[in-house]
Amino acid sequence: MEHTVVERTLAILKPDCVRKHLIGEVVARIEKAGFTVLAMKKVRLSKESAGGFYAVHKGRPFYDGLVEFMSSGPCVPIALEKENAVADYRTLIGATDPKDAAPGTIRKLFADNKGENIVHGSDSPENGLSEINYFFSSKELIEVG
Ligand code: RTP
Ligand code: MG
Repeated sequence: MEHTVVERTLAILKPDCVRKHLIGEVVARIEKAGFTVLAMKKVRLSKESAGGFYAVHKGRPFYDGLVEFMSSGPCVPIALEKENAVADYRTLIGATDPKDAAPGTIRKLFADNKGENIVHGSDSPENGLSEINYFFSSKELIEVG
């Protein structure tokens, strides 16, 4: 069965989300979609840590702007768990560019443009685990029980 594997994914509420006072609004949508919050905190990324997190994009034309933006103010990484978490979270947030995002998705509702697009989401279960480890220690990941 395709959707029965419990996965973890990393969300980041990006600096534009924090500046717009949308933390609660976005977390409410994530929880209503069935995700369990394992861990959440507010951090200010240095250029080095933002660059390290998005190292896969190094050399792309948008990389420097992305690092600048992600270090421009505090953001909120959130470790999430759910069956089929990676794909379901990306469906919830919508396409990278809000112009292309489906109606009702978080990016369609709240994002200004392709660069400042409110939220990050992991793109595979493997990256979900490694991205969660980038921000949280194992003892910070608290399961419901
Ligand atoms: P994310 O990693 O942040 O969840 O976004 P994504 O998978 O939907 O998109 P990705 O291709 O991984 O790009 C990472 C982030 O870089 C910025 N970006 N800007 N101006 C541009 O053409 C452009 N392209 C990408 C966005 O902030 C995007 O979310
Ligand atoms: Mg990505």
